[in-house]
Amino acid sequence: MVRASAPGKCILFGEHAVLYGQPAVAVAIEQRCNVTITDSVDDKWHLEGMIFKPEKHPHIDGLRKRLWNERQPLTINIDSAVPSGSGLGSSAALSVALAAALRAKRGRRVAADGSWHEGFSASLFQTDAYSKPDKGDAGHISPGGELLFGRAALDSDELALLGHAIEAESQGGRASPTDTATASYGGAVMISDRRERGFDWLCSRRLATPEGDRQWEVHRVKMPDNIDQARLVIGNTGVHSRTATVVADVAAQLKQNPERMLEIETIGDLSRRGASALRSGELEELGRCMSENHLLLRGLGVSCPELETLIKAAAPTSLGVKLTGAGRGGCMVALTMEPTLTCGAIELAGGRAYISEIGCEGARIDMESGN
Ligand code: PMV
Repeated sequence: MVRASAPGKCILFGEHAVLYGQPAVAVAIEQRCNVTITDSVDDKWHLEGMIFKPEKHPHIDGLRKRLWNERQPLTINIDSAVPSGSGLGSSAALSVALAAALRAKRGRRVAADGSWHEGFSASLFQTDAYSKPDKGDAGHISPGGELLFGRAALDSDELALLGHAIEAESQGGRASPTDTATASYGGAVMISDRRERGFDWLCSRRLATPEGDRQWEVHRVKMPDNIDQARLVIGNTGVHSRTATVVADVAAQLKQNPERMLEIETIGDLSRRGASALRSGELEELGRCMSENHLLLRGLGVSCPELETLIKAAAPTSLGVKLTGAGRGGCMVALTMEPTLTCGAIELAGGRAYISEIGCEGARIDMESGN
């Protein structure tokens, strides 16, 4: 049995603008998706007590094909504290947690010098997480090495890569690496179309999308200890919105009014300012950047009355407030030194509130036995 988990994410800066080459910053939150896998009791795959239907769960099926293939069927159980469809990265957390569980249970052949004999990595040129696996174990390179299981088999670069490939495959080729990188690496992550000076570069992602080839650079934003004095309080409006629809509306608006691209660029400037404030622990500046980012998002027409109600309720006890994710529903986030008060204000205004530290641990194995 293996149990793995990965965190949800909250975008602090740059939603929408990131689709036009501007930087975005996301942090891993305390709310996690837990996945347990055990050997199946029969010759079928099971999910949550039911027979697994691959067509209904493309994320799970894509990972099964890449990491498990023809091996003995498994039983998968999911227990997630990340609400789905609210912009907190629930599907990325599931993909990354399941990838971790499958890799830990399957194991990895590793040479004495630490190099891999198998796996998905940008440096293993023969493996390609993004192409559809047909037969055989995709990602398998060469025989030899020692087979390591559990935590020793895990690699956060591989999880981020696989997670992104799976999200792209199940979202018609459109997926930025924001959610999966945050779920995998944890902490705070900055995504941009270029390498950002002053931040630790982690990896590049290339993807063939219906709109053409895209490339992102993924960085880690290292945070000082004083960040721990503040909390995020996330308020869920309970209103479901489709990210694809909101994204398409913003695209249509920009096409009609190309001069509004200036607002997108201003969001990019705020992302960089916000990322620097996060890195240096300037909490008041961080909050100011969040609130300014919200005003620009509101100007783009992606807020809604329910989000505005929660934002207004949270503002008096917060350093900064904004919507997070695609908007028109979903969640808002407040940066606060008084999380209990902010939480209460959001709930009183009709939202469901979640308190989180800023930048929690990425994907991990929580329990393993019987390998
Ligand atoms: O709904 P979410 O949290 O996945 O937010 C989407 C963020 C966008 O920038 C609007 C889209 C994207 O893929 O980055």
